[in-house]
Amino acid sequence: MVAVSRKARFSAAHHFYLPELTEAQNFEKFWKTSNRHGHGHNYQVEITVEGDVDPATGMVINLTDLRRILDEDVVEHFDFKHLNVEIPFFRDNLPTLENLAVYIWRRIAPRLEGLSLKLACVKVWEADDLYVEYFGEEPS
Ligand code: NI
Repeated sequence: MVAVSRKARFSAAHHFYLPELTEAQNFEKFWKTSNRHGHGHNYQVEITVEGDVDPATGMVINLTDLRRILDEDVVEHFDFKHLNVEIPFFRDNLPTLENLAVYIWRRIAPRLEGLSLKLACVKVWEADDLYVEYFGEEPS
């Protein structure tokens, strides 16, 4: 089993605001990020897939396929959007890094399964010094 990772970038806006709280409580909880006009990040996403090396090609996955999946299912889906407003999932779930990583996992895992590859990790950065990693659900 060999792990292969590829990174992509997109820019998007978001805000953190819980409708059941008052304006003041939201500000206390989320500080400036509660401003509903939103603020932006240059996000980075890295996906890691695991598989066996194909003896014919010497590869786990064609790297162009990996780029296409990232471009179509991540970059095109999020780039230059306001996450809270334009992505239905984030109307009811705060667009935190944690929720983004889980959401991206759910989008791309089925597509990788179709290529007989196992998604091992989704890593999402919203700044150089801040990222989360998601390794999928614990097998039950
Ligand atoms: Ni933010």
